[in-house]
Amino acid sequence: MNAPELSIILPAYNEAKNIPLIVDKIADAMGDIPYEIIVVDDDSPDGTARVTRSIAREKPYVRCVHRINRRGLSGACIEGMMAANAPVVAVMDADMQHDETRLPVMLTEIRKGADLVIGSRYVDGGNASTGFQKKTRAKGSELATALANRITGAYTTDPMSGFFMMTRDLADRSARAISRDGFKILFDIVSRFGSELNIREVPFQFRERKEGESKLGFLVTIQFLGLLASRYTGGWIPVPFLLYGLVGFSGLFVHMATLLFLNGVVGVGFTAAQVAATFAAMTSNFAFNNEVTYAHRKLKGWKFVTGLLTFYAICGIGALANVSIAIRLFEWNWSTSVAGFAGALMSAVFNYAVTKLVTWRDT
Ligand code: GDD
Ligand code: MN
Repeated sequence: MNAPELSIILPAYNEAKNIPLIVDKIADAMGDIPYEIIVVDDDSPDGTARVTRSIAREKPYVRCVHRINRRGLSGACIEGMMAANAPVVAVMDADMQHDETRLPVMLTEIRKGADLVIGSRYVDGGNASTGFQKKTRAKGSELATALANRITGAYTTDPMSGFFMMTRDLADRSARAISRDGFKILFDIVSRFGSELNIREVPFQFRERKEGESKLGFLVTIQFLGLLASRYTGGWIPVPFLLYGLVGFSGLFVHMATLLFLNGVVGVGFTAAQVAATFAAMTSNFAFNNEVTYAHRKLKGWKFVTGLLTFYAICGIGALANVSIAIRLFEWNWSTSVAGFAGALMSAVFNYAVTKLVTWRDT
């Protein structure tokens, strides 16, 4: 058997029906070029890993990296890249939306000296419209691309593409530098290394999905906004903290709505209404953080309940710290607003840091 010249990483979540199809399609497209396929599955309930292993028994150039208790597209791609043996690594969706016949063309570009080759839906000859079920998504994607290009420095027409190929060296450097919590791995790579790289683009037609469904919904859009904001601030504010802040801000509205409703409409006394509003805001903050900020380690079932309890406890301690620090600063003759703001900011950082370690600890 020949050593692989290309490692193809297929991140997959609930793609059991697509894996056998894509494996055959890649075989047709690659012809005589030796390659390997690494499917990175996050313990999909539909048995994606089982299907992949049964294929691998007959086709030893196919492997499965089966991750437990982890979710997330970027993280899955990074682990696949690090498990790859070939001198060139490609990342491609497992759902047949990407055009596998472009792989040999992209490989030729790498052999000619490119560090990174991007499968683009927007360069001449590429096409995105057929693959988008909804017009709104196409518009959103256009806007996101324009924004992303402003940040990355316009090195590519499609910084949001999930279809790309790179050298081993760039894969190694990227794996150390980029966020594994996101889903825009190419954006991350280009925004960090764009200026140093020889980048080529290869047009492709984004196909309609036939089996399974998309995992990148509304929440992913919010996460991407967090990523953009983080890059705009030069990357020194972590994405989860921005999302955490955004969620906290939404909690303010939940708090006020609950307070006004209970006190004004239902007629509950102020103290009881304020306590109830505080718990309502904490609960909604917890639920939103669980969905958005920590979507990749979402707590479910019993863990949701125990997580919520730790969240209450930590926010409680944060609130105490907030009040005592604000009082101390006020005693030191800091102005009311500055002392109050410092207390609130300090408890936000405290809550963020501690709930990240305790409530959503990385298992
Ligand atoms: N292991 C793993 N874990 N795989 C995942 C996860 C995850 O948490 N989430 C998604 N995937 C896999 C899917 O199974 C699929 O093979 C691929 O990643 C892309 O996910 P889709 O859910 O099909 O994404 P999409 O089609 O909506 O979005 C595609 O187009 C976007 C551009 O509009 C992707 O290529 C995106 O990367 C791209 O930005
Ligand atoms: Mn898809």
